[in-house]
Amino acid sequence: MNNKILYQMIFKRKSFHLFRCETFPITEEEINDIYNFFTSITPLVENIKTEIKIIKAEDSGCRVGNQYTIMFYSENKDNYLTNIGYLGEILDLYLVSQNIGTLWYGLGKTNEKTYHNLEFVIMMGISKVHPDSFRKDMFKAIRKPLEQIWINDYLPISNIVRFAPSAVNNQPWTVENIDNCLYVYRNHKGRLFGILPSKFSFFFTRIDMGIFLAFLEICLNYEKISFKREIFVDEKKVDKALVAKYYLQ
Ligand SMILES: Cc1cc2nc3c(=O)[nH]c(=O)nc-3n(C[C@H](O)[C@H](O)[C@H](O)COP(=O)(O)O)c2cc1C
Repeated sequence: MNNKILYQMIFKRKSFHLFRCETFPITEEEINDIYNFFTSITPLVENIKTEIKIIKAEDSGCRVGNQYTIMFYSENKDNYLTNIGYLGEILDLYLVSQNIGTLWYGLGKTNEKTYHNLEFVIMMGISKVHPDSFRKDMFKAIRKPLEQIWINDYLPISNIVRFAPSAVNNQPWTVENIDNCLYVYRNHKGRLFGILPSKFSFFFTRIDMGIFLAFLEICLNYEKISFKREIFVDEKKVDKALVAKYYLQ
């Protein structure tokens, strides 16, 4: 899919927590298109097998007024959560371009813990909605101020990437711009996970980071800022983990 369309969808997307708006049936053809689009995405990390399975909401652990639920499965390898976040966010933006509203649903439980020998990771509820039901003004969405997530010189993308979605709106990312290289960190101690065991924060913040990297790359591509990226293994429960470096050219 055209990067410009994905970029535009950043402004339109929002979470449909309860799909309280009017919804319309998703056709079988659209379901096939979702499968095809997912397999067409270049993953963040090569050599990690992933698959999605689209099931009826009533057969899934996500019943918030959605018609279907997308189940994400992956091989369990280094950075597999970050990779699923990245793939899932690109899929999210594609779905929005098709007027399909989405909800990443970390709370969802499932009995189908494996599929084709892959491990269940997370689910996403979806329903077709009217174009008017999407976000009208992204800048009104609640997010941390720019100075809290971006250190040193700002780029045109800085104020856009901060609108990436995250579990409990935790926004665990910080970016440091040093000599035209973006150092992207995951901050494990989320302000919002509060009293929940740290395994939750460790699980979700890694998915969130993949989501954020998808936003970052879509924005860099849109601004025609070419880059080389280096991804680091993020599998340790440390307070601050370097997830990626983007060398801007
Ligand atoms: C990994 C992940 C898991 C999430 N899980 C849930 C969930 O279980 N229930 C829910 O209502 N929203 C969930 N959300 C949605 C977030 O609350 C939402 O993305 C965030 O508050 C930002 O709002 P926005 O998506 O409308 O911009 C999840 C989001 C992400 C990225």
